[in-house]
Amino acid sequence: MSATNEKTNEFLPGVLPPRTRRTLSSGGRIVALRTGLVVLAVFASTFLWRAPYGIGPYHSHQEFNADICPQVSELIPKSNGALWRALGETYETDAFKMRAVDWLAGAVRIPTESYDQMDPVGTDPRWEKFGVFHDYLLKAFPLVHASLEVTKVNTYGLIYVWKGTSSSLKPLLLAAHQDVVPVEETTIDQWQYPPFSGHFDGERIWGRGSQDDKSGLIGILSAMENMLENKFQPTRTVVLASGFDEETSGLHGAQMLAPVLLEMFGENGYAMLVDEGSGYGEQFGRVIATPGVSEKGYLDVMINVASPGGHSSLPPLHTSIGILADLLVNIEKNPFEVHLERGSSTYKIAQCLVHTPDLPASLRRDIIHAEHSELALRRAEHELFKNPMFKNLVGTTQAIDLIHGGVKVNALPEQAWAVVNHRISTQSSVAATKGRDTELLISLASQFNLSYTAFGARITDADAPAFGTLTLSEAYTHGLEPAPVSPTGHDAVPYQLLSGTIRAAYNSHRGLSNDDSLIISPGIMSGNTDTRYYWKLTEHIFRYGHTDGARGGSIISGVHTVNEAIKISNFVEMIRFFTTLILNVDESELP
Ligand SMILES: *[C@@H]1O[C@H](CO)[C@@H](O)[C@H](O)[C@H]1NC(C)=O
Repeated sequence: MSATNEKTNEFLPGVLPPRTRRTLSSGGRIVALRTGLVVLAVFASTFLWRAPYGIGPYHSHQEFNADICPQVSELIPKSNGALWRALGETYETDAFKMRAVDWLAGAVRIPTESYDQMDPVGTDPRWEKFGVFHDYLLKAFPLVHASLEVTKVNTYGLIYVWKGTSSSLKPLLLAAHQDVVPVEETTIDQWQYPPFSGHFDGERIWGRGSQDDKSGLIGILSAMENMLENKFQPTRTVVLASGFDEETSGLHGAQMLAPVLLEMFGENGYAMLVDEGSGYGEQFGRVIATPGVSEKGYLDVMINVASPGGHSSLPPLHTSIGILADLLVNIEKNPFEVHLERGSSTYKIAQCLVHTPDLPASLRRDIIHAEHSELALRRAEHELFKNPMFKNLVGTTQAIDLIHGGVKVNALPEQAWAVVNHRISTQSSVAATKGRDTELLISLASQFNLSYTAFGARITDADAPAFGTLTLSEAYTHGLEPAPVSPTGHDAVPYQLLSGTIRAAYNSHRGLSNDDSLIISPGIMSGNTDTRYYWKLTEHIFRYGHTDGARGGSIISGVHTVNEAIKISNFVEMIRFFTTLILNVDESELP
């Protein structure tokens, strides 16, 4: 990981700060950058909004417009209600808080770092610390290990199956990864407390993984252990899948877990899946939660220019490097066209904004009218795209991240290459992205008299004499399509159930009981999680961690950088969320 400090809350209004993951590889090769969770957050509300006529100042209790970013009430377990209340009371005690501190701090103390380009399990000794981590889990959660079936996949991948009494019901699938991004040696002295200390200062637990994603894994196991202590027996099976190299693309972990999970309950065999992802935070004057309903796609494009070498005292007008430079300038001059499209996830995100009190009135009006007016849609787009975070989330991005050329100062470079990293819009595809790149360079290829091949296809006449070659290819890994969008409509029971659960956990943690507390909006991940391997398991995939994603002004979450920490109250709230989710899904009408 890089040592770059992430800044929070320094973006234009309208989006939550990113949790950007960047994994740099060594040796000049990049392997499947697992870059992370940037999620745009926006929201909606239970209150009302006099759309589309009463475009006035924001009033919080007007009639409900069910069409724009509809909200659901808090969902409190009914048949499991007594247990839910009892557990809630437990979670509020100091004794429980200290237990939660111990559980999470103990997990943080085992440095489960995953690195790019690790050799297979059994060959690379760096995996072995996951064995130590498993020993810890066994000791910390005795009832979970006594009551659930544990399957180990590729030695360190974990699948826990908590068998329900009714085997005809599709299981709830929870996911959380065991690994953490490495701590950069040179940054250790910048940590307020040592990165694997798990130090508790009375308010926060410090250390790498305290948020990402040991809070998720330990949060789930803590909820299960407590529920077992209280004799809960699920009706519907609950499955927990835990990979161990999510931070480096999940090749050894989630990729191997996926076929086993598929074998266990079949294609579309799970009722819904909740993995790590964005949380909640305040925007335009309201707290919004943004479960990720899709992930952007991914493509690295290698651009290679080759031309005759020779002594540099007799140069051509343009060397391979000069030509490549021109191509790259042309790429940066031509960003992908980006539009907000009706019906898209990012459009729905924008719609949710109308329910926030501090949104500028003209923008609110345009978003509401955008549904029927092209002009309003373009105006809203123009305004929203002033926030580069939002624009990047909507469209396909390009970033020239690697360049190489030349070997000697007096020799003409026979080759020069660069790699462009794309994050593909959920409205686009790998093929469309390749097509755009290919098109863009045609005229320059001909201007420089290059024979042009793109992704295996000849673009120029193979027989024509040429000065050199231009080759586009996928670098290092195959492109990843944008994830299918999980349903969020009125009839999408899993999304509604998740929304009601988020509200119930948020409210009960704060002693609130109203439906105005926060807004739940779909979110989009600009990076990828282990769920990239789980598309076949269910169409209802959500990337959501019930934690304060904004983390307020000066407080740095430290995800992927120095001083990662989590507030204990936040961690306890996560446990409450997982408890509520398991109980709600257990008594739900899901198939
Ligand atoms: C392209 O380069 C080749 C090789 O140098 C040359 O034979 C050919 O005439 C050039 N074509 C054009 C259109 O300049």
